[in-house]
This record gives sequence, structure tokens and C-alpha cells, in this order.
Amino acid sequence: MTVSLTIRGAWTAARKSCSPDCFCYHASWRLFRLAGLKGNPRWQTAFYQRAMAGKQPSNALVCGSSDETMPQTLSELQPGMQITVADACPTPLTLINAWAKETGEQVSTLQSHAPELSGISGPFDLIVTDGLLSLLPTPASREAVIDRIAGLLSEDGLLLYTTRIAGPAGHLEYDLLGRAGQALAATTWPATSAERIQLARQRLRRPSRPSPFTSPGQVADAFRSGFGQVRLFTRAAPPTTALALHPAFVTERGSLCVGIAATQPRRP
Ligand SMILES: C[S@@+](CC[C@H](N)C(=O)[O-])C[C@H]1O[C@@H](n2cnc3c(N)ncnc32)[C@H](O)[C@@H]1O
Repeated sequence: MTVSLTIRGAWTAARKSCSPDCFCYHASWRLFRLAGLKGNPRWQTAFYQRAMAGKQPSNALVCGSSDETMPQTLSELQPGMQITVADACPTPLTLINAWAKETGEQVSTLQSHAPELSGISGPFDLIVTDGLLSLLPTPASREAVIDRIAGLLSEDGLLLYTTRIAGPAGHLEYDLLGRAGQALAATTWPATSAERIQLARQRLRRPSRPSPFTSPGQVADAFRSGFGQVRLFTRAAPPTTALALHPAFVTERGSLCVGIAATQPRRP
């Protein structure tokens, strides 16, 4: 199948490969990313540049990538780097493979679930993941993925983790719009109309990606179990015009972008 790297192409790939758990997310992701409404690796480029200064990683592992944006961002920062992308769902891997074929970038992909991340063996000079901890349901599973990642990193390697912490409203900007978009996507799920309606209702009710952390310090603390050195970066400025125009940023404090750069992985 030829995959086009467009909103329609991503939706088509999601219809073909996603489970009901992630269909609404992957089918609508590209639209929200391009509209500047949802956090994506492009928002973190300045953090990646600062954290990677003086480093020349030759290989990298990306844990979870909604589409080709993360490997694209990394290959711009470190041309020629060999990148492996692991994701629980085949849809983003299809998009990434299509992008790699189009550009000739050196990327390999595999379907693998965190925290186990089975099928992956390091060591990697660089491991990058965005928001993964928010997607793991328990403190034990979050600890397990931090330990697993530490075990995959080379001794002088670098882990980069990014996430967003909601402002006083308690949820990320455009959360309701995001849920509405996902509910709309649910109506195109290849199933019976009763199943589609049930999925749409479920999406509308569930806040997206509730973060397990309420302060940047808590994110940094989570990584201290697996790494000897943890540096914390924060950014309060809205990363896109759409966010700058959101009432949360206009009237009070909006969400905070948090970056963690961790080194000196602890071996079990
Ligand atoms: C980790 S976030 C990344 C979002 C971010 N904006 C990006 O594109 O880099 C979302 C991705 O993680 C994947 N994912 C969710 N739970 C996962 C898990 N337990 N193990 C591996 N991948 C997972 C989803 O399939 C999705 O593609």
C-alpha cells in the first residue's frame, strides 16, 4: 500500500491498522499537530538542541512516536544518525517507514510495548520519548519503563523526555476540542454503527492524556531512580499561535513544557 503523508493518508493508515483503543487518536493526530493544538516534537527542538550540545550520538531509540515528526526532528538535529522507533501500534510505524523511504533516512521500526519494550536491545547513545509516562497507567509501570530505558542507554548516553503539565485549569488547552475531534474520528471507525457511536461517546467523555505529574520537579524526581544525573528544563511561553490565543494563556497561566535530560544510567 502506498501511504501518503497527509491528514487523509494518516487517517487511512489508522483505519487499516489501529485497534479501537488508539484509532481515534492516530486518525486525528495529524490534523491536530498541523493546527498547532497538540504537543509534538517540533515544540521541543530548542530543548533538544540545548540538551544535545556537544554530543554526537550515532544511534537513537524513540519510544512512542505518533507519526514521522520525531525521527524527522532528530535526523535534522543529527544528520546520518541511525534511528530505531518503537511504538505499540503499527500505524505510526507505517507512516515512519513511508517517510524513510521518501527521504532515504536510516530508520528502523518495530512494534513493541512499554514498559517491556521487548525485541529491543541497546546500547543506544540517545533515547527520546515524549509524553510516554502519561500513557502508562500505574506508578509501577512508569518506574519499570524508566529502568528499562536506563538499561538500554550506553554508559555515556543521553535520555531526553518531554511532557506538558497542565495549568490551573487542570487539563491541557483544547482538550475538549481534541475529544470532539476524536469522537468525530470514531464515527469513521470500520465497525458497526452501534460500535462507532459507543466509541465516539467514550472519546468525548475521557479527558486526553491526563498527566500523572503536577509539577516539573515531580517529573525530574521520577527519573532519579534510573539516572545519576537529571537536568530539568521548563518553558512557560506558548509554543504555537493557537496556544497563545487560548484563554488559559491569555487570562492566567497555561500549560508548561517540561524537558528532562538524564545521564549516568543506573544498572540493575
Ligand atoms: C508517546 S506518545 C508520542 C506523542 C508525541 N506527540 C510524538 O509524536 O512524539 C504517543 C504514541 O505512543 C504510543 N504508545 C502509547 N502507549 C504505548 C506503550 N505502552 N508502548 C509503546 N508505545 C505506546 C502510541 O501508539 C502513540 O503513537
